[in-house]
Amino acid sequence: MKSGDFSHKIVEWYNEHHRNLPWRNTHDAYKIWLSEIILQQTRVAQGLPYYEKFILHYPDINSLAGAKEREVLRLWQGLGYYTRARNLLKCAREVVRNFKGKFPKTYADLKALPGIGDYTAAAIASFAFGEHVAVVDGNVYRVLGRIFGVDQNIASPDGKKFYFQLANELISKGAPGVHNQAVMEFGALHCLPQNPKCTECIFNRTCFAFQHDQQANLPVKIRQQKIRKRHFFYFFIRKGNKVLMSERAQQDIWKGLYDFPYMEAARASSPIKMLGKFLQTKKISGRTRVRMAISKQYKHILTHQVIFAHFIELNWPEGKALPDVNATWFSTSQIEKVPKPVLITRYLKDRSIS
Ligand code: ADE
Repeated sequence: MKSGDFSHKIVEWYNEHHRNLPWRNTHDAYKIWLSEIILQQTRVAQGLPYYEKFILHYPDINSLAGAKEREVLRLWQGLGYYTRARNLLKCAREVVRNFKGKFPKTYADLKALPGIGDYTAAAIASFAFGEHVAVVDGNVYRVLGRIFGVDQNIASPDGKKFYFQLANELISKGAPGVHNQAVMEFGALHCLPQNPKCTECIFNRTCFAFQHDQQANLPVKIRQQKIRKRHFFYFFIRKGNKVLMSERAQQDIWKGLYDFPYMEAARASSPIKMLGKFLQTKKISGRTRVRMAISKQYKHILTHQVIFAHFIELNWPEGKALPDVNATWFSTSQIEKVPKPVLITRYLKDRSIS
């Protein structure tokens, strides 16, 4: 489908089906901005009475900028995400102070104001000032992802970039504001997340998702798993040419591989502090001195975890009671033979042991 055809068709649909909302049919940047801030993370039905309340109390930006924060928060009560309300006031004051009460007219300048991100800047720039810049929200991802069969992940920076570019290529030459409203409205009323109205859809002859029965899988959204940071303190306990090791048995990384007794800390900590803790919890008296050395910090990257490890080498004196750890003595040649995590091999190599 040509981009002109897409825009023409969706605007035609919009003209016939759109809801009559008070922030539409206006080019007043104040009203558009106010509605968009209220509608972030809020459904239209919930946001509408708040919008009307705010317009009644603060009919223009000067009256809002002159309000007390307490008063604004009181009016906002029930909408949640109160940072939005604080930024609303901050932004109004900045526009009055730095721009004589008139919103800047471009996407780039709008984005510099408090509480205005990519989405809100594009909405104000296109609805109020006719700038050719695409609005991309959840509705837009769904409509474009399905019609054009986009395989990019909307939760990734590359995916977001791709959609922003596609949405900008599709934007109408004539009326970018109406085009943007139309795509959003089409997503909100017709191309629904569940049970989209495909059989009566103006795009169903060319829509990729409908043609390939992929409505439930588009747009692609794969949340990147958070990388977990872990802090390991290994105790490399030696007696002659033997070292204490054990097989990892817990449901955790490296099950079945061999490593040294260790403690894990919830956050970064000092090896000396962890050694103190280890000796205390493993019931080792401090009467005989144990010679020790502390390694550099090792950083080991796994798919969803980063391990920060220190190795604390303890030369165990003959005759001193063994630490209360579930481990056995391994000779150098035995160490060589057992399967070990790469982190352990790296350390042993650095110590010229394996
Ligand atoms: N949600 C966010 N912005 C909107 C708008 N301008 N119209 C309808 N719903 C919206």
